[in-house]
Amino acid sequence: MLGSPNLVGHQPAKLVGFIPLRVQIPPPARVGMKIVKLKDILDKRKISELSPTILIAKKLGLKYLVEEDGLITGPAIGLSILIDKLTKISPIRTMLDLCSGSGALCKIAKKNGVQKIVCVDKNVKAIKRNIGRVRGVEIVKADVLNYKIKEFFDLIVLDAPREVLAKLVNKFEYFVSNSNIFVTWHGSLGEFEWNEKIREKLRKVSKVLYSFSIYGEEISACSSTKNGMKWLKKLYKWW
Ligand SMILES: C[S@@+](CC[C@H](N)C(=O)[O-])C[C@H]1O[C@@H](n2cnc3c(N)ncnc32)[C@H](O)[C@@H]1O
Repeated sequence: MLGSPNLVGHQPAKLVGFIPLRVQIPPPARVGMKIVKLKDILDKRKISELSPTILIAKKLGLKYLVEEDGLITGPAIGLSILIDKLTKISPIRTMLDLCSGSGALCKIAKKNGVQKIVCVDKNVKAIKRNIGRVRGVEIVKADVLNYKIKEFFDLIVLDAPREVLAKLVNKFEYFVSNSNIFVTWHGSLGEFEWNEKIREKLRKVSKVLYSFSIYGEEISACSSTKNGMKWLKKLYKWW
């Protein structure tokens, strides 16, 4: 078992494995946003090819990751596992991938049969190269802070940088009301106050909230619809 979900408010999340928060590959001192080749990351930076982000990227056939202000971001292991499991065991047909980055979550969902995926990021170069034109996948270059959702989705997943997430807290209700399930990555295990603040907000805007602690990542999933609650319960049972 990789991690343990728990009904937040009833018991604390359990830690079963720990790996540092996100991939934080030592930067050359550069500011701005660009994409970097996976191959160059391995050749030029001090990173093991066994790091989780690199392993996931390779497994999914991603060739590029996003670099912002010198920091390389890519798929987080916990969120990747959760989205993989959720889209495998539930009849999720549509997904909105907010802050889609490299497109890893989109690739995972697509592989598991999700038919329509909308990916939103302010930098879409990496995802365009990694995924390109694929039937059922729409790539939108936009700022998530003012992105208008155009339809109801089975699943909305948000994987925003911390400072952006802080500004999106007031939009949680909007995300929950436009989906069967809303999932957000929100921090590392040790950040008790911050994680609790996020959960408290999610609890207020949804009917059911599950919080997952997977390899040190704190991820929450919530719902207010009959289907969403049913699918989350199934995920919880599986876990
Ligand atoms: C943690 S990474 C997401 C990783 C992604 N899930 C993956 O699998 O590669 C955060 C992403 O948020 C994007 N981002 C940051 N600020 C944003 C904003 N205001 N609007 C849209 N995207 C933003 C960055 O470009 C980056 O791709």
